Amino acid sequence: MSVKREHWGSRLGFIMATAGSAVGLGNIWKFPYMAGDNGGAAFIIIYLALVFTIGLSVLLAEIMIGRASQSDAVNAFKKLGPSGFSIVGYMGIAAAFMILSFYSVVAGWTIAYIVKFASGSFVGMDAASLGGAFGAFISNPVQPIIYEAIFVAMTVFVVLGGIANGIERAGKILMPILFLILIALVVRAVTLPGAEKGLEFFLAPDFSKLTGSSVMAALGQAFFSLSLGMGAILTYGSYLGKDANIGKSAWQVAFLDTSVAILAGLAIFPAVFAFNMDPGAGPGLTFVTLPAVFDAMPGGLIFGTLFFVLLTIAALTSSISLLEPLVAFFSTKGFSRAQVTMTSGFLAFLLGIPCSMAMGDWGEFKIFGKNFFDLMDFLSSNLILPIGGFLIAIFVGWVITPRALQEVSGTGEPGLLAKLWIFILRFIAPIAIAAILINGLR
Ligand code: TRP
Repeated sequence: MSVKREHWGSRLGFIMATAGSAVGLGNIWKFPYMAGDNGGAAFIIIYLALVFTIGLSVLLAEIMIGRASQSDAVNAFKKLGPSGFSIVGYMGIAAAFMILSFYSVVAGWTIAYIVKFASGSFVGMDAASLGGAFGAFISNPVQPIIYEAIFVAMTVFVVLGGIANGIERAGKILMPILFLILIALVVRAVTLPGAEKGLEFFLAPDFSKLTGSSVMAALGQAFFSLSLGMGAILTYGSYLGKDANIGKSAWQVAFLDTSVAILAGLAIFPAVFAFNMDPGAGPGLTFVTLPAVFDAMPGGLIFGTLFFVLLTIAALTSSISLLEPLVAFFSTKGFSRAQVTMTSGFLAFLLGIPCSMAMGDWGEFKIFGKNFFDLMDFLSSNLILPIGGFLIAIFVGWVITPRALQEVSGTGEPGLLAKLWIFILRFIAPIAIAAILINGLR
């Protein structure tokens, strides 16, 4: 097929869309509580070090493969090197469906919470009753699935618009809104009386809490947060033209992603401490502790609503990047964008139903000791993404190295940074990723 490949309208558009992919539930919901659990600033320091070495290198590798091949994640590997590496693309297709399934369920909860907050139905409830309300909501067999459907429909709607008019436009509109909301929440949180204790909890390094497994967790989180290992970033890179400076773009995306994660912590912990709530609530922090915090603060109805709008936006720009690789691949099989987008969205929605039901009636149904929701998360995040990242590092670091160097350096001689990039992909990334993989399977 020789249809002309669609391209981003501008480099800024690519940055916004790619940062939109990276910035997601992982940054706002997961990163803060992981940092809180693992020694605060000590964890943040390790996380930063991993993001800007291994994470950034694999990110650039994916953008480079996409840009060089101008192809979807399966055909990119076939085009540039030995076709066996296209297994990365096929695994990526599976991972995209799996991540979309559970991600859309949680994103559906965030939409439901916008409605619940804005309508004032949480007013006057304490943390215990909010916990009960959350449990009752997610275990309901109907409501969360309706919200999941709404979220998938929103994702499909954006992807139907194509690259420049759909994904790029969504990124350029939504990412600035996301930043503004986040800044407003940070300002609100740090100006509450008693906020200092929260800042200290999040930012004072406690190296005694940092263990081998927290380093592993930091690397796994860096990977998931940068959307690596399944061809999402690769697919976005494939819509870049030859003249784009991809090294600079990769750096900017990693910087934006990390900034949002840290700002999310600064929006959450000062507020949690100001009202003497439990910062260690783990995954329940977002849907139970924070609503109680918002309830207690001046202007809480507005800030609480904004917080869940923030989460929904973050989730939407990420889920778009999970659907687009499917569209890019299946379009090469002769289907139209509209056909593939709607069919893939519908399949992902169906796969989300057992994820949602796992929170209630189907919770006892277990495979490998995990309910369906946890199974989808585990297979994608702990298995496919690290294997994909490992193979991408090997592919660029060992197999197509001359081409890779030429792609990042243009006509000039490869500089020191380019050589460092290859060194990391050759040795450091594969070893570190193999370690997360083995650790994650235990
Ligand atoms: N990065 C997103 C987050 O932090 C999740 C995500 C979107 C993702 N697309 C991905 C993760 C592709 C891995 C691969 O929430």
